[in-house]
Amino acid sequence: MEKIIDEKKQGTALVLEEKKNNTRKLFIESYGCQMNFSDSEIVASILADQGFNTTQNLEDADLVLVNTCSIRDKAEQTVRKRLEKYNAVRKINPKMKIGVLGCMAERLKSKFLEEEKMVDLVVGPDAYKDLPNLLEEVDAGRNAVNVILSKEETYGDIAPVRLQSNGVSAFVSITRGCDNMCTFCVVPFTRGRERSREPQSILEEIDDLVAKNFKEITLLGQNVDSYLWYGGGLKKDFEKASDFEKATAVDFAQLLNTVATKHPKTRIRFTTSNPQDMTLDVVKVVAANANICNYIHLPIQSGSDRILKEMNRLHTRQEYMDLIDNIKELIPDCAISQDIISGFPTETELDHQDTLSLMEYVKYEYGYMFTYSERPGTMAARKLKDDVPEDIKKRRLAEIHTLQRVHSHYRHKAYLGKTIEILIEKTSKKSDQQWSGRNPQNIMAVFPKEHYKVGDFVNVRIEDCTSATLLGTAVGYSENN
Ligand code: 5AD
Ligand code: SF4
Repeated sequence: MEKIIDEKKQGTALVLEEKKNNTRKLFIESYGCQMNFSDSEIVASILADQGFNTTQNLEDADLVLVNTCSIRDKAEQTVRKRLEKYNAVRKINPKMKIGVLGCMAERLKSKFLEEEKMVDLVVGPDAYKDLPNLLEEVDAGRNAVNVILSKEETYGDIAPVRLQSNGVSAFVSITRGCDNMCTFCVVPFTRGRERSREPQSILEEIDDLVAKNFKEITLLGQNVDSYLWYGGGLKKDFEKASDFEKATAVDFAQLLNTVATKHPKTRIRFTTSNPQDMTLDVVKVVAANANICNYIHLPIQSGSDRILKEMNRLHTRQEYMDLIDNIKELIPDCAISQDIISGFPTETELDHQDTLSLMEYVKYEYGYMFTYSERPGTMAARKLKDDVPEDIKKRRLAEIHTLQRVHSHYRHKAYLGKTIEILIEKTSKKSDQQWSGRNPQNIMAVFPKEHYKVGDFVNVRIEDCTSATLLGTAVGYSENN
């Protein structure tokens, strides 16, 4: 499962480079994980060929699309509020059509049309190529739905249009779907079975990004470690592959190594890793390639063996700790971040203490932490009562947050007095005199702009820090520049 985008950045309307002869206006917003933002770039690309340019102005739009997230109830409530807003605007602009994309479309299917009566179009994550046909229906005044999940679709043949990009960092999707069936998670139902994208199309997309001067590429998938290309088809059908297909198969460690060695001056990141699927080969590839960032997002969800089992996470606390030890041995300065869920059904105070003690062991650089939200249709919803009271979930989450802040601060303090490489991404939110960018460990640093510009790799001496940011002064370009 990939990490969820910072909530403040969610929902931003995206701007597409204008195509001259396009006359219709598309307003598209994305919620949830990076995969949705990446998918919206594919949708915008498909619709650019159908005569649409994007607009940031909702009032002007002929077509409004919202790419949705179902991971927690709160994410769905946010989308419902947006749908109300679109419908209010539609009163002034009655020609406006409204469509729902992504996980909520897949989860609720045509119920959206029946119950909500607020949308004209419902399209699941594997059906975006059908948008031209579906729009014809909508233009003819009929509602349209396609939520068929696919065994092959990877959109490898569609060149995504980079929307609202800083021109420095880009995401390249390498797998779709997930086969892990964690009991709390709706993703396997909304995004379907796991399939990998052809390596050649991944490499071509990255070549193109590098040629356009992008400096940092993040390989994206719900579970990147599980990447496996053997000529197409579902991951779960690999056993049925021919001897030739097996012998020429490409796994994640190989793909990562190929990408990194082909573009030694480009920073390479990947997300999300899954502890049960991450191999030592992947860790070794990270260690062996200077341009692969020493940062691994490695969700744990809970530190209790009993809860991990209930979650169907197919590893133990000890196995996770062993993996962390191996990573730290091979890559001593590797930063690690977590996802943790508080208040999973049956979680006791002791289980919660196990989570806190595991955090103490790892001392994560960063974390994405949530209270458990029961998702209809998941195994946990079917088999387990959501029995941890909301106030207890929240109190435990607050304790997890507090501990994470302590650990982030502890990790950041280790950089004081050191000089580290930062890739400049944008003007700092706090001051237009300062740049902000990240080091390979994915920690944000802020420093005076001087003569540097967006996209530069600079060495920054760190003088101060908070639990969120490093503060410093640039001392020159890094050798990567
Ligand atoms: N409730 C709370 N958090 C969840 N996540 C996934 N499903 C749920 C749920 N039902 C969290 C997990 C995952 C991250 C992306 O979202 O921590 O790793
Ligand atoms: Fe991630 Fe598990 Fe959900 Fe797959 S099922 S997306 S591994 S949390």
